[in-house]
Amino acid sequence: MEQWTIQKLLNWVTDYFTEKGIEPARFSAELLLGDVLGIRRIELYTQFDTVVSEEVRDKLRELVKRAGQNEPVQYLIGKTEFYSLELEITPDCLIPRPETELLVERAIEFLRQRSGEQFVCDLCTGSGCIATAIAKNFVTGKIIATDISDSALKIAAKNIEKHQLGGRVKLLCGDLFDPVVPQLDSGKFDLIVCNPPYVSDSEFETLDKNVRDYEPKEALLAGVDGLDVYKRICEKVDDFLKPDGALIMETGYRQGQAVRELLEQVNCFTEITVEKDLSNNDRIVTAKKKSGPPKLDISP
Ligand SMILES: C[S@@+](CC[C@H](N)C(=O)[O-])C[C@H]1O[C@@H](n2cnc3c(N)ncnc32)[C@H](O)[C@@H]1O
Repeated sequence: MEQWTIQKLLNWVTDYFTEKGIEPARFSAELLLGDVLGIRRIELYTQFDTVVSEEVRDKLRELVKRAGQNEPVQYLIGKTEFYSLELEITPDCLIPRPETELLVERAIEFLRQRSGEQFVCDLCTGSGCIATAIAKNFVTGKIIATDISDSALKIAAKNIEKHQLGGRVKLLCGDLFDPVVPQLDSGKFDLIVCNPPYVSDSEFETLDKNVRDYEPKEALLAGVDGLDVYKRICEKVDDFLKPDGALIMETGYRQGQAVRELLEQVNCFTEITVEKDLSNNDRIVTAKKKSGPPKLDISP
């Protein structure tokens, strides 16, 4: 009788996904098989010859069928990995992308150059991935994270609890900075981070089916040119950022220059940089705010 080992199943699912255009095929196969077996991806490779029961294969077959119809694998298994942290995910929030890890990297670098407790604001937090990753890796950071979607914030709350960050990350529901105002007992923020919706109406039609049909539209769409949320952040950012503080945002793959121009118009930043990701697409814009007025030396 034919024996279905982990290795054989992994190869079979990978081939099926490749044929269906589900990318990355091998990684997606590993996630699904690991999930139905209740083991980590790496353990698949140490148990290659283990025979998989019919019951587990039935479960796998069902999930593979749904993934083959473009349902995102991360939603099927209810979790993903971001900045080496396991996070819960549901269709109520965007699936955190590897590109966003670059934003986290820059945020942590910025915070580590400064001394004392740092106050961070994460706008459009979704699953809470950015806030969680920053708080986990910068232990003197206090973070306020906001989102307009109450259901996304429920997932963020689970992730913050899962990583025991409740004492340092506060979640607030509302439109961009609106819910922050009454909370601002600490004054302004040292750092504001944001991965906003940035897909234009026309680009939305060109997105992969798994994104267009399954991820929340309010996490993606941002008007005719995809710049609506950046424009609204630019209107308010000066009021919320300390002198010498920074704003770090993710952008769409061709939006770097447009976002730079919006930030230049704010006229409170000294240095604005646009950084590309590993695929050479625009990805991270960092704007450093001017220093405050010099302190007057009135000593005799
Ligand atoms: C691109 S997703 C980013 C989610 C998460 N930060 C990440 O990087 O995966 C954008 C998020 O912005 C939220 N959002 C959209 N419009 C908003 C608004 N006006 N105020 C606050 N949040 C908003 C959406 O609900 C969604 O969770």
